[in-house]
Amino acid sequence: MLAKKPPMGWNSWNTFGPKVNEQVVREAADKIIELGLKECGYEYVIIDDVWMLPERDENHRLVPNPETFPSGMKELADYVHSKGLKFGIYSCAGILTCAQLPSSFQFEFIDAQTFAEWGVDYLKYDFCYKPHSFSAHMLYNRISLALRSCGREILLNSCNWGVEDPETWARNTGIHIWRSTGDIEDNWNSIKDIFHKQYEKSCFGAPGCFNDMDMLVVGMNGEGHVGLGGCSTTEYKTHFSLWAMQCSPLIIGADISKLSDEHLAILKNKEIIAINQDEDARPPQMIADWTNKDKFTLVRMLSNNEYAIGIFNLSDDESTVVTSLFDVGLPFDSGLAFELHEVWENKEYGKVCDYLKFTLPAHDCKIFKAKVVKQ
Ligand code: GAL
Repeated sequence: MLAKKPPMGWNSWNTFGPKVNEQVVREAADKIIELGLKECGYEYVIIDDVWMLPERDENHRLVPNPETFPSGMKELADYVHSKGLKFGIYSCAGILTCAQLPSSFQFEFIDAQTFAEWGVDYLKYDFCYKPHSFSAHMLYNRISLALRSCGREILLNSCNWGVEDPETWARNTGIHIWRSTGDIEDNWNSIKDIFHKQYEKSCFGAPGCFNDMDMLVVGMNGEGHVGLGGCSTTEYKTHFSLWAMQCSPLIIGADISKLSDEHLAILKNKEIIAINQDEDARPPQMIADWTNKDKFTLVRMLSNNEYAIGIFNLSDDESTVVTSLFDVGLPFDSGLAFELHEVWENKEYGKVCDYLKFTLPAHDCKIFKAKVVKQ
């Protein structure tokens, strides 16, 4: 099964936008290995929009731009594969891509065949310039069938920004990850906005078909194509924690060669990644604070009867978040308690059997791994 767990990797768009080229893709693959990101699970190297020439060839096939991709896609895919990584590419369900280049509408079967011949493992399939008379469901069905009959296993990432309720048809269409909201920007408001907008959709994610909250901006520092403002290290930590708790794909969007040590450490936190990649892939329950929707606790049941508990303060002030363990199914008279280990601080918090109460700085969070033990 593809996407048994939320896919992890790197995508060119957030940093390089339309300036993507072969060199940055090769460098991303090299850095994923050099910096130990592959061992953490990052495996897909994905080229986003603006890799193709404005015209198809005489056989109606897409042609990589020879100025930016002189080796061609087969050779580039071979390079990525030689590192033990997987190769992803981009197209779109409409008549043009978002950057107005040739797209796959009415060429789905030719394109799937071409991608298979090049060695593509992952297709990000966008939604710009879609003819109004075709439903999203139908067009994603079509590319899905084209991929399933092309002779190669290719993961399908639908990127339709949540239009026409993809959570209701993504799974039956064969989509492996579906974007539920618009494009992320490298700033706190964007991160918060995405979380609030798609939270109620997370229950639709499960092995084989996950809700995609968009690529990560961790480590962008306000630079690059969507680097509009930048975030503090605390905000990047909270962003990564939210995406991990929500079972969203973890696709790095920063320039990997420019990551600072502290931002790299966020992306490499093995315990947070393990929560995201937990094989049960159960979505979190939200326990909201009574007073403020920016203060809440996310609780996920993990495999092996463990729990992940995320306490979040998305508000702009230092705040105290209180969570009754009663709400998590743990009455005091059960004789049981949660034994808590905080992942970011790598610190033990001992046993708790009544409530959690933490005062957090603005935009901060705590992520606990919890075991149910005797009081
Ligand atoms: C948007 C998509 C972005 C990026 C861009 C490329 O529709 O959401 O992630 O792929 O198109 O033009």
